[in-house]
Parts: sequence; structure tokens; C-alpha cells
Amino acid sequence: MAKKVILDVDTGSDDAVAIMTAIGCEDLDIVAICTVWGNLEVEDTTINTLELVSAMGADDIPVYKGCSTAMVKYLDPTGIPFMSHAPIIKDGKELSIHSKRLGGLKPTDKKPEDIDAVSFYVNYLKNAKEKVTLIPVGPLTNLGEALSIAPEIVENIEEIVIMGGGDSLANVSPCAEANIWHDPEAATIVANCGASVLWIPLDATHSAALDMEDVKTLKEVGTFASKFAAGQVEQRIEFENAAYGEGKNDSAIHDALAVCAVIDRSVLTEVEKCNVKIGLFGFGAGETIIDRRRSPDEPNCEFAFKASKERFMEMLCEYLGKENA
Ligand code: RIB
Ligand code: CA
Repeated sequence: MAKKVILDVDTGSDDAVAIMTAIGCEDLDIVAICTVWGNLEVEDTTINTLELVSAMGADDIPVYKGCSTAMVKYLDPTGIPFMSHAPIIKDGKELSIHSKRLGGLKPTDKKPEDIDAVSFYVNYLKNAKEKVTLIPVGPLTNLGEALSIAPEIVENIEEIVIMGGGDSLANVSPCAEANIWHDPEAATIVANCGASVLWIPLDATHSAALDMEDVKTLKEVGTFASKFAAGQVEQRIEFENAAYGEGKNDSAIHDALAVCAVIDRSVLTEVEKCNVKIGLFGFGAGETIIDRRRSPDEPNCEFAFKASKERFMEMLCEYLGKENA
């Protein structure tokens, strides 16, 4: 029987690949997609999600619009600001890792559902007949709110697979990854809610980064989804080359790895049970801190350190290659 999942996205280039991968996999039953702010404003992440779901011919999947900002973080005027870099211009064009609109999608008549994402989580999970796996790949605000309103919903959560955090890597502050940095309070609530938690951090996603050879392979698969994904990966590589130096020529497709880990855990090649705490203040805000004392606190999660790039690509080609995908 297909595994019931809810995606929580801030679409976003890598979110787009994650959504299409999930839609292409018959072993997943996508109950809903919730949107949140993060890569872009929530209005934009919602439109991008709706347009992509329609382009995939999956209009039957409900989309719930979620939170537009963090639970607490941005209320603090003394907080450390987002460390964005200066605009990156190449050949007179500003490059971005997440365009405001995913390129090449048609406008859609599909609308978000009438209730918001937080109400959806509370209503659905209170009454669910079967446990559901949650795959949040943006800031954790929707779930943080839902678990604050109705902590008992944890009973119907099979597992929470979070794309976020990092042990040896960071991307928006010297020590934090974007999804956790944006809403560390929500991340703390989610990480300690009592459900099984699997982290897919930057360590794992960067170990399976895709390069231009992979872009070519995805294009050759030849479906709408594979070619669209190839375009998103290429855009990310172009941006990262310009932003961080031409040498690496690859990009981590973070959110899609989280979806693949739900489909087949063996895509992760190094996973450890450990205790992770989350920094809330100052320069430590959003840091995922692994308890490395000789006598650490009890494990509260599994944390993935490495993934197989080969298996990841194999899975992307399979699921993005489905005829209707
Ligand atoms: O740090 C990577 C994460 O931040 C990904 O989920 C990306 O989409 C952004 O949300
Ligand atoms: Ca994301």
C-alpha cells in the first residue's frame, strides 16, 4: 500500500524537483501539499506550487497555503539579519537560485483550499485513520503552529523527515542552514514533539550534489518533469558557480533527497541516532547542534551525514521519467 505523505514546501527550485519526484512515485500517496514562506513570499511559493501541480496533471492534490513568517524570530529587532549577498549579475542578467516564478509554467485556475495549512494539519491529523509521514522542506512554521495548537496530533504522525540543518556545513549564517535559521523556535517544537524525526541536512544533500552530466541525463529522460527538473538544476548550478566560484560546477538538490529518503531509505548511506538541539539566539540562531559530550542526552532523532549520488540520480530518473510526470 502506498505511504501517505504530506509535503510542506517553499517552492523554490529544489522544492519543485521534490514535488515532481513525489508525484511520480506510485509508492507515495500525497494527501496534501502545504506551502510556507522561505525561499520566497508565501504568495509566490503557493502560486509556484499550484502551477507545478497543474502542469503535472495532479490537480486532485489539495494545496493549503500556510504561514507568511516565523513564529517568533522576526519579532526581535536586535536579531541578526539574514546574511544575503549582493545581487549576482552575469551578462547583464541577475541570477537567482529560486526565481520568483518557476520558469515556463502556465498560469493555472487551481486555487489553494479554503482553510490554511495550520488548520489543515490540526483537522486532518486529529481525525486521520492512518498514520502519515510528513516531509517539511521549508521553514517549519506550519507544523510548529499546528503542534502548539494540538500537540496530540503527534499520535497520527508516522515520521517527520526534515530537510534542514547541517553538522559540518551551513548556508545562511556561519553556522545555520536556511530552513532552520528562518524559524528556529518552530524547528525546536517540531524536533521535540515526540514523533520519530529524520534529518536530511546539508551534509547529506551536498554529498549527492548534481552536476552538468546529471542535467544532461535528466534532459535525456525526456518527460516534462525530467526536463523541467534539469532546468531547475542547471539554474542552480549557474547561480552557485557565479556566487561561489566556477570550480565546483554542481548543486545540492536538497528537498528532492528528503522525498527520495522517504521512498527508499537506502539512498542515505550514513545515518546516526543522536541528540540534536537548535540554537535560538544571536549568531547561534538556527544552528543544529549535535550533543557530542562523552555522555550525551538520549537520541531524539536520526541524522543523515551522507547519501548515494548514484542511487539519488537513479531514483530521480525513475520517478521524473514516469509518462504522466
Ligand atoms: O538550505 C536549503 C533549503 O532551503 C532548501 O529546502 C531550499 O529550498 C531552501 O528552502
Ligand atoms: Ca525548500
